[in-house]
Amino acid sequence: MKKEFPKDFLWGGATAANQYEGGWNEGGKGISVSDVALFKPNVDVQDMQTQWEITSEDIEKAMQSDDMTYYPKRHGSQFYHHYKEDIALMAEMGFKVFRISIAWSRIFPRGDEMEPNEEGLKFYDAVFDECKKYDIEPLVTMSHYEPPIAFVLEYDGWYSRKSVEFFTRYAETICKRYKDKVKYWLTFNEIDSVVRHPFMTGGLIKDHFEKEEFEQAIYQAMHHQFVASALATKICHEIIPGSKVGCMLTKLTYYPYTPKPEDVMKAQQDMRKTLAFADVQVFGKYPAYLEALYKNKGIHIKKEIGDDEIIKNYPVDFVSFSYYSSSCSAVDTTGLDVAPGNTSSAIKNPYLKASPWGWQIDPIGLRISMVDLYDRYRLPLFIVENGLGTFDKVEEDGSIQDDYRIHYMKEHIKTMYDAMVEDGVELMGYTPWGCIDLVSNSTTQMSKRYGLVYVDCDDYGNGTFRRIRKKSFSWYKEIIASNGQKAFED
Ligand code: BG6
Repeated sequence: MKKEFPKDFLWGGATAANQYEGGWNEGGKGISVSDVALFKPNVDVQDMQTQWEITSEDIEKAMQSDDMTYYPKRHGSQFYHHYKEDIALMAEMGFKVFRISIAWSRIFPRGDEMEPNEEGLKFYDAVFDECKKYDIEPLVTMSHYEPPIAFVLEYDGWYSRKSVEFFTRYAETICKRYKDKVKYWLTFNEIDSVVRHPFMTGGLIKDHFEKEEFEQAIYQAMHHQFVASALATKICHEIIPGSKVGCMLTKLTYYPYTPKPEDVMKAQQDMRKTLAFADVQVFGKYPAYLEALYKNKGIHIKKEIGDDEIIKNYPVDFVSFSYYSSSCSAVDTTGLDVAPGNTSSAIKNPYLKASPWGWQIDPIGLRISMVDLYDRYRLPLFIVENGLGTFDKVEEDGSIQDDYRIHYMKEHIKTMYDAMVEDGVELMGYTPWGCIDLVSNSTTQMSKRYGLVYVDCDDYGNGTFRRIRKKSFSWYKEIIASNGQKAFED
């Protein structure tokens, strides 16, 4: 039997402005949280906590510097100057969809202005026109680790209620401007990550708060994002009839380390830490277990009249997520190894291999994740991030033989198919992460590469930024041309 994906399946790739676009101080763009993210070459890449740490003093230092060597997200892969070439490469692979994000700080440099930056709007006009030229649908994330720094420093970011007003103005501006160009939207990238890296996602600086207030501040920021996301969904639907708006979740999949009921329960609890976010955005209501957590921790969310109705009335159309790896949960962790994953660490699974960054590779976990999400939400899913971040070597003949990446993607594509055919999951599309090399979010390294296209730039920003097709480029092109069938051939 021919194993093909649905006819209208959206094959493509994913990026985000904060790690890819560059042009951090061009075209009237303001500084964002990512522009002050420091490259820490001496910190263990598996030590997420230290990688993420940031103080007011660090931010001040960054703001006074024009350096790009230690602030690599400022240059990214220079999409700002290479967008025509890059979109042509995506078209050559046969992309049906290209995920990018709009940098909020390019449109509203401080976040609080009444009028947008026209030059910033024009840039994305040009990008979307280029996509149109090749019949590529843009899939646009409104916020992917890009809160403007002025909004963070002067308002405490998403902790402030003002955030809802600023963000909805931004959402309305971009929906109006791109109404004829963009149909697929995501509101917040990995909205659940506000708990794990409050600065990048929520614009919260720890030392701006009393120690015991910080957790409360995180949950308050999260509430504001829920309200803003619902309002952005409403705005998008009103301005662009037929548009599809998704939530975006980090799919952190946990297995109980043993069949001990305690471990099984721990896995269930760990999983809820991210599912809670989609629960709100899909069901339009805080789940009971989150309310219980607030009660037990003494957390009080300040809500305005009408917030609950807004969340209830404007749920999302589909559930998108990132999936890279899985890990285990155990109550007694004595003697157990820890494995890092997507911005979090958990117990290592002895049955899985891992990338050099320690992220455990588990294609079956993707199928399990899809089933979990589809059974729970009964909405179409969209895998908007997946991939292998690892070292690549340019051979003497200039080629990049990334068979390891082909293997990773192939195995994941196969289980995606199984989830659709055998479990009945409805999947809209697949956009592997960093389809072109870009700066790593967690470690700000360029050497942690995900791309099908290589970008000549090292961890310190040295290089020509020349684009080179990797072996996986031609392979993925064939996958798309065969509508997935090629993944089942050896
Ligand atoms: C997701 C993010 O967390 O994972 C991306 O949405 C990120 O921004 C990706 O780049 C991979 O993580 P990393 O840390 O390897 O770049």
